[in-house]
Amino acid sequence: MKIALGSDHAGFELKEYIRDTLKSRGIRVIDLGTHYPTPADYPVYAKKVAKTIRNSQADFGILICGTGLGMSISANHIDGIRAALCPDTQYAILAREHNNANVLCLGARFISQKLALEIVDVFISTDFLGNFPQGKRHKKRVALIDQLK
Ligand code: RB5
Repeated sequence: MKIALGSDHAGFELKEYIRDTLKSRGIRVIDLGTHYPTPADYPVYAKKVAKTIRNSQADFGILICGTGLGMSISANHIDGIRAALCPDTQYAILAREHNNANVLCLGARFISQKLALEIVDVFISTDFLGNFPQGKRHKKRVALIDQLK
């Protein structure tokens, strides 16, 4: 599995923590910045991660800003991106199971490092139910999202 990571300054510290933890587990990570804790514009990094996912250069994206809102709004402008702001693990499970979310957005100012990692863990390990016979309705709905563009 390969994960593309991005943050602004508000998400920088959490992004570094998640990157180092995933790497220590042998998960391949592409860190697309920001590489500094100084002010950075979240749409720039949302675009980098979203394009990486769109071009199939990574399996999932993780975007972190202060609230996760700016990142999710920005990433969802890119075709093929289903970015979900998940404040807890249940959101992360449902974002994968029902929405086939391919980018996880986190709000660094509202969750602990421990919770953030739990959210990441369930997000990257939960399957989209649309890939199974009992989840056909989810497949249909996600296909309808794609037609909105
Ligand atoms: C930066 O202060 C903050 O606006 C940003 O990290 C994010 O929360 C925007 O949605």
